[in-house]
Amino acid sequence: METRILQPSDLSAATAAEHLRAGALVALPTETVYGLGADGLNPDAVARIFAAKGRPQDNPLILHIADPAQMELFCNDIPESAWRLAEAFWPGPLTMVLPAKEIVPKCTTAGLPTVAVRCPDCAITRQIIRLAGVPVAAPSANLSGKPSTTTAQHVYHDHAGNIPLIIDGGPCRVGVESTIVDLTENPPRLLRPGGITPEQLTEVLGQLTVDKAVTAQIDNDTVVKAPGMKYRHYAPQCQVIIVSGSTQAAAKYMENHFAPGDRVLCFEEELSAFAPFAPLSYGCQADTNTLSAGLFAALRILDDPSIGKVYARCPEGGGIAYAVQNRLKKAAAFQVVNPEDTL
Ligand code: TXA
Ligand code: MG
Repeated sequence: METRILQPSDLSAATAAEHLRAGALVALPTETVYGLGADGLNPDAVARIFAAKGRPQDNPLILHIADPAQMELFCNDIPESAWRLAEAFWPGPLTMVLPAKEIVPKCTTAGLPTVAVRCPDCAITRQIIRLAGVPVAAPSANLSGKPSTTTAQHVYHDHAGNIPLIIDGGPCRVGVESTIVDLTENPPRLLRPGGITPEQLTEVLGQLTVDKAVTAQIDNDTVVKAPGMKYRHYAPQCQVIIVSGSTQAAAKYMENHFAPGDRVLCFEEELSAFAPFAPLSYGCQADTNTLSAGLFAALRILDDPSIGKVYARCPEGGGIAYAVQNRLKKAAAFQVVNPEDTL
């Protein structure tokens, strides 16, 4: 199959919508990461997503809608807090988990009684969803287990020849996947940090519980709220180790541990300090938005069988840095060394 990459236009939106209505897969840009979309109400189309990604069947998909009001078409018992979140953050990088209506097929929700919905902040993708007239089920477009796709070229790399169409919306602005909040519990539960920060959620909700899968390694036998959170994720093929502490202490640690073939993933400001250790920058420590925007492109570069270990520098604190920490810690299977403890 030929994989076409089209720029956003009324014509490409119409083509994408036609493909979706026919049950085909279309890779779509969003403000977070590229999604691999299909008609979320068509079980055959949804099955194609799982096949193309090699995704475990127990991992449910997010339904993307064109307008916040469409939440009512697919969700039951919508609490007032969901409307407040929609008002504050949609269109935008927030996914809400709510009781699913009958119309949502079991394959989309992986058999759960709930469904995850999101209204993305990307005009071309909302236009496509509107034209298709169906909600679009879309996981991140990466092959299962690989770092997410933040450019059309990443999607092409993973799916060339296997999907008919990619809409190229340029590099994703946020760069990490949406924040997921479960509103079927009280207080609501943060299942995955992302572009909408815990601070922003708490401002609207008052209270928020943070799921244990956000902050610690979960083994395969544990029942988790967001099934996707238990899989090794976002990771290059090699071992990733987070090295915390000051730049100076981390550079000293490298002198003792770095082996030929290893790489250092660091902040732009640290490139000279790590110059002897094959450093790759993913953004500026002084502007954490550049770190979230650059993280997955860097992890994809490091997804190279010739690399030994990756030593990664991770931002501290809240805001978007919290989501970056979560993705990096998952890539590192929560392995963090603090050289200041061992000096
Ligand atoms: O930013 C995003 O959310 C991107 C773009 C394409 O919108 N999508 C994305 O999808 O990250 P995916 O499939 O890679 O991650 C969806 C996560 C998974 O961890 C899945 O387990 C969880 O959402 N999820 C989906 N439905 C759920 C539900 N009903 N209850 C709990 N978790 C759910
Ligand atoms: Mg994903």
